[in-house]
Amino acid sequence: WVSGFLYFCQGFWVADLSIRSQVSFSQNFVARDNDLVLASCPKSGTTWLKALAYSIVNRSRFALSNANNPLLKLNPHDLVPYVDMDLYSRYRPIYFENIPEPRLLCTHTPFESLPPSFKSSNCKIVYICRNPMDTFVSLWHFVSKFESETELAPIQECFDKFCRGVHLFGPFWDHILGYWKANLETPHKVLFIKYEDVKNDVVFYIKRIAEFLGFPFSEEEERRGLIEEIAEVCSFEKMKNLKVNIDGKHHSGKPNKNLFRKGEVGDWKNYFTPSMIERMEKLIHEKFKNSNLVFNFSP
Ligand code: PPS
Repeated sequence: WVSGFLYFCQGFWVADLSIRSQVSFSQNFVARDNDLVLASCPKSGTTWLKALAYSIVNRSRFALSNANNPLLKLNPHDLVPYVDMDLYSRYRPIYFENIPEPRLLCTHTPFESLPPSFKSSNCKIVYICRNPMDTFVSLWHFVSKFESETELAPIQECFDKFCRGVHLFGPFWDHILGYWKANLETPHKVLFIKYEDVKNDVVFYIKRIAEFLGFPFSEEEERRGLIEEIAEVCSFEKMKNLKVNIDGKHHSGKPNKNLFRKGEVGDWKNYFTPSMIERMEKLIHEKFKNSNLVFNFSP
């Protein structure tokens, strides 16, 4: 969080530990026509989207509630790799070449900074965004834990940096607007969804994501309640209480439990002072006034 470990690289802020991988990604990675890509600014619902998309794409390979479902044994980040942060730090480019097709991949990289093959190929991208206030609160908690498991970093300092765009993969505004515009210009390529909307009607969005990715549900699957089953297996409560997410570790060495905090809309109300609300509202107006993008701030 402290800009000590963030570098401004290729138009956005990257953690020092990821720079090598990020550069390798931009130089080596070639998207394929049938790649299925999940994208987000950190703390916008990536883990949830990974679980949902993994379940949708692999639903014919195993029964969802069966103990053999990899999602019940592994964290979604171990099933759907980040092409940017993982390419060099965790795997080698060759690993990504050998993933069975269609490859289900994830990125936090802003749309404008993706390698050109993302735009020139027919790969599909599902982008999830979250309202900036809840995203900030989630990020502040998450990044505080890099320093201490028990103490939160000073909120005002973190908030100031967030507002100035100095945070992982920030600026937040540019990140969202990049994918928002890509969705408007190429809706067949980029699906834009909001965390709050998915919370509100997860069944609708599971269907929407499945259709977009080319894995629509048959009438028979719908009758069997498969969509509801996916919603249940991927729900916050279910995922938070899996053994792997209670005492397992993320490949970065951090506890998986840090990825499952509250999973709610509107937690910002517990932390934002009137002056923070005022500053954030001004920023939202200034940054998004030329788009018709609207955020939901309450459940
Ligand atoms: S990361 O580190 O970028 O992958 O984090 P990300 O997954 O994008 O965001 C973490 C927040 O998402 C909440 N979360 C969920 N919400 C609903 N359903 C499910 N299954 C779920 N899994 C994780 C998580 O709790 C973080 O939000 P906060 O507000 O901090 O609770």
